[in-house]
Amino acid sequence: MSDSILSVHNLIGGYGKMTILNGTTFSVPRAAITTVIGPNGAGKSTVFKAIFGLLKLREGKIVFKDRDVVGLSQRALLNAGICYVPQGRNIFAELSVRHNIELGGVAAGRGIDVASRIEAALDLFPALRRKSAQQASTLSGGEQKQLEIARSLLLDPQLVLIDEPSIGLSPLMVQQTFKILQNLRDRGVSILMIEQNARSALEISDHAIVLELGQTRLADKADRVLHDPRIGQLFLGGAMEETAA
Ligand SMILES: Nc1ncnc2c1ncn2[C@@H]1O[C@H](COP(=O)(O)OP(=O)(O)O)[C@@H](O)[C@H]1O
Ligand SMILES: [Mg+2]
Repeated sequence: MSDSILSVHNLIGGYGKMTILNGTTFSVPRAAITTVIGPNGAGKSTVFKAIFGLLKLREGKIVFKDRDVVGLSQRALLNAGICYVPQGRNIFAELSVRHNIELGGVAAGRGIDVASRIEAALDLFPALRRKSAQQASTLSGGEQKQLEIARSLLLDPQLVLIDEPSIGLSPLMVQQTFKILQNLRDRGVSILMIEQNARSALEISDHAIVLELGQTRLADKADRVLHDPRIGQLFLGGAMEETAA
């Protein structure tokens, strides 16, 4: 068994004729939080789409638990243990909180005890448990993001890809959401996250990947990246804030 749960090798691809991933290569350690940082347009979200089979690659290999997963359907990837929480709000506003979470189990087919999985997910999110009967539209932005994470847990994923969870959240909600990711990590889930809120994200991460122009510029322990003066200047100080959307 290799130390990493996922590795991507030499990914090349993009949109139409435009190449965004220029040989992207990195690996993601098991049971750790790995955060991808880098300027807007670097290809961070694109690499997540590629991992989750939403972008057709021209070249490259994606290995999840020692198995090549290029070309698998989303359903197959979910069943293999990869979950994807995209950027933005992706809930069913009219449905109850509990019903939203339940939908996370749809891809599982028969054989899982959905009710007990919902309970286990709600254990991690006390605010969602309190509001489980309410319409999801009544949740705050941060609670809605937590709902998406809770829903993604229904298939008992081993790897969660999460794209900019902190966008639009209050600082307190960001800390709460990061805390939940740390809890998941402590339970053995591997987390690969993209964050513009780079400094706070790296503070709770184990590893960091700096992506630029579709290539890995640096991959190291998060605290080393956090204290690397070059990275500090480029991505963690004012420059990062100015380029944030
Ligand atoms: N669906 C799309 N069609 C065409 N171009 C896209 C699409 N999505 C993203 N891009 C372009 O690809 C580049 C990388 O985007 P993205 O991966 O979203 O960057 P990041 O997440 O690092 O900010 C950007 O130049 C963006 O405009
Ligand atoms: Mg993005």
